[in-house]
Amino acid sequence: MLHKFTFAITVSAISLLIAGCSNSKKAISSSELPSLKETFQKDFTIGAALNGLQIEEKEPNAAVLVPQQFNAITPENIMKAEIIHPEWGKYNFDLADKIVAYGQKHKMEINGHTLIWHSQLPAFVRRMKDADSVRRFFTDHINTIAGRYDGKITSWDVVNEALEEDGSLRKSIFLEKLGEDYIVEAFRLAQKAAPNTKLYYNDYNIEQPKKRAGAIAIIKKLQAAGVRIDGVGIQGHWRASNMPLKDIEESIVEFSKLGIEVMFTELDLGVLPNPWDSDAADVNMKAEYSAKMNPYPNGLPDSIQAKLTKAYEDLFSLFLKHKEKISRITFWGVNDGQSWLNGWPIRGRTNYPLLFDREFKPKPAFYRVIETKTKSTEKKAF
Ligand code: XIL
Repeated sequence: MLHKFTFAITVSAISLLIAGCSNSKKAISSSELPSLKETFQKDFTIGAALNGLQIEEKEPNAAVLVPQQFNAITPENIMKAEIIHPEWGKYNFDLADKIVAYGQKHKMEINGHTLIWHSQLPAFVRRMKDADSVRRFFTDHINTIAGRYDGKITSWDVVNEALEEDGSLRKSIFLEKLGEDYIVEAFRLAQKAAPNTKLYYNDYNIEQPKKRAGAIAIIKKLQAAGVRIDGVGIQGHWRASNMPLKDIEESIVEFSKLGIEVMFTELDLGVLPNPWDSDAADVNMKAEYSAKMNPYPNGLPDSIQAKLTKAYEDLFSLFLKHKEKISRITFWGVNDGQSWLNGWPIRGRTNYPLLFDREFKPKPAFYRVIETKTKSTEKKAF
């Protein structure tokens, strides 16, 4: 049985397992490592986005670390339309079925990501000119995929990133061809195809007041139409040097007033300069590489490590303060080396946004996050 104050996990068996794997470095070397999912088990689930190799358990270190640390998973890419639905009427469920089996095996929550999104669309959709074709794709896509995994996964990000920074609807192919009710339609279709699956709206920067107002308008519109929405995901691609803590707190409070779950779904705290000094996380944004934009190729200076650690501490202290309102915190990746922030918005950089380093070793921020909980428990005890 899991015990509330038992954070330590013996990993000697794990070390043996790792030692047996030829391509693994000395990764999880400590004999006792606290577990995020156990530490926060009374508060919220703790998730990670998994890439294809991790889903197939072809990465020995991740195969050990993920079930030890996380009780929720999101596929980083393999349920996106360009991969799962590459051509008209042709679906590729191979890896999606595998992540479902993986999550079931480890009794993890599985969040489907994502049904309707303007990015990572297959070429046949990007080429569409007429509204009828887009509508046919939209309907088939939601019915087929949401239907297939109903009862097998926990939730769907039904619509992802439908908002502009000013809170208006993004000028996507869906808005253009289907009109502004497309979000309600997407949720209505998902509700019908997946009656046993939670349905979420997911976006970046919706902690910011204007964009947050746009998200609230979407949620209220769905509720007024009598269509089910169970939660909202704030992605959480922030910069450690620029944490919008006040906006985050206000968002937790405001979104939860709508009677839905609040989640942080793609957490990573970058430490590199941003070419536009912005927190927008549009995957289509690109900038040129320069050495100035990649200041820490050989390791993170202590001062920056300390800032990252403090940013994670502040964030998790806030999450704990509002734990009744928050259902899940998912990190966008397992370790720094695999983070998409090494390649976006500039290719070839070295970023350090997660709690585990390139060797899968826990960073100072990992221990500080664990401490936010042990400290809050101590405070209550005395
Ligand atoms: C990113 C993946 O991490 C990358 O591997 C991929 O190349 C682009 O997409 N918002 C989202 C995620 O909702 O799906 C994005 O994931 C990051 C931003």
